[in-house]
Amino acid sequence: MILKKLKLRNFRNIEHCELLLDSGINVFLGNNGQGKTNCIESVMFSSTTRSFRVSNDAAMIRHDCPFTSIECHVEDEEKKFVLSSVIHSKGKSLFISSRQVPKASDFIGKLNVVLFSPNDLEMFNISPKERRKLMDIEIGKISMKYNNALLNYQKCLKERNNALKMNCDEILLTSLESQMIEYQMQIIESRRVFVEFIHQRLSFKMKQLCNENLELAVKYKSWVDISDPSQIRDLMKKKYQDTRERDMILKVTGNGVHRDDIEFMMKGFPLNEIASQGQKRMVLLAIKLCLIDFVRMTKKTSPVLILDDVLSELDQQNRIRLFQILDQSVQTLITTTDLDEIHGSLVKSPKIFKVNQGMIK
Ligand SMILES: Nc1ncnc2c1ncn2[C@@H]1O[C@H](COP(=O)(O)OP(=O)(O)OP(=O)(O)O)[C@@H](O)[C@H]1O
Ligand SMILES: [Mg+2]
Repeated sequence: MILKKLKLRNFRNIEHCELLLDSGINVFLGNNGQGKTNCIESVMFSSTTRSFRVSNDAAMIRHDCPFTSIECHVEDEEKKFVLSSVIHSKGKSLFISSRQVPKASDFIGKLNVVLFSPNDLEMFNISPKERRKLMDIEIGKISMKYNNALLNYQKCLKERNNALKMNCDEILLTSLESQMIEYQMQIIESRRVFVEFIHQRLSFKMKQLCNENLELAVKYKSWVDISDPSQIRDLMKKKYQDTRERDMILKVTGNGVHRDDIEFMMKGFPLNEIASQGQKRMVLLAIKLCLIDFVRMTKKTSPVLILDDVLSELDQQNRIRLFQILDQSVQTLITTTDLDEIHGSLVKSPKIFKVNQGMIK
């Protein structure tokens, strides 16, 4: 999959731009605060209908303008299409090749992107929230079935929490639990496959990136033991029964996939306890490289790879290795403040976009 053209109007500090991108490596070069990440944010929005930086869409509208528009001209193995988004103060409108799409879910994932952003390092924090987000976003990008199961589970969870607050009878709780169990069966299976996919490849990618065997292991930790799939349904049922009294006192659902986690281990120890900052960055980068393979396997097309602020943190050796393993068949968008960071690391010359005060040349 290739992003051929990116057209922006009043997107953050970019008044107007029309960029013809290369199918190989594209570099966004500029000093701090000039608009490099803004460009990338607009591409990510076209993939997910959300910003990866802010929850408030209106923040992306150029100050004192009524709306912003993003146009992505995409080509994959089979077809060409244009994804257009207009964000205004009251919401957003989405179009695929000029036809308006009523639901964001019809738009999400049409442009497949794998992003490395330094914000993702939060994934190695104590809180499992970002790790669940990784599973939900990455699986959601390729599976509508997963998105629907997750959405339905969240609806039931909300209903169960409301029922607990209103001291509703146990018949309603049992009925909601059995629906939640069915949705969770689908969610758990997709997450298990996804995490196993990363586990199988992570150490190898890491070795390619930093020439060191860190013995990485990744495991999906669900709220019930999932080692025997034939038992999961019964285990969930039992756990709901065992914890119902506690849930009724606390008036909140304490168990479920909304509390699940991914465990990252390095040399047999929890990664967040022993890895250095640099090693965490490299592991994150290696995870992103695994995600490229995941999209390829499930969608039969390569995603666009976006690397924001990745180079300044890597030493020369690691930079060279990164460019060596970046598959030439993956279109890459990369931001940097300094061209020296990539010179000498590349096999083929990249297309360079100079970004200065929101102007891109
Ligand atoms: N809604 C907006 N309207 C106008 N300008 C905005 C808006 N939102 C952000 N900006 C401006 O965009 C600039 C930041 O752009 P961006 O985050 O893309 O920088 P960058 O080139 O990636 O810098 P760095 O190298 O520091 O990451 C800031 O100057 C900021 O004031
Ligand atoms: Mg930036």
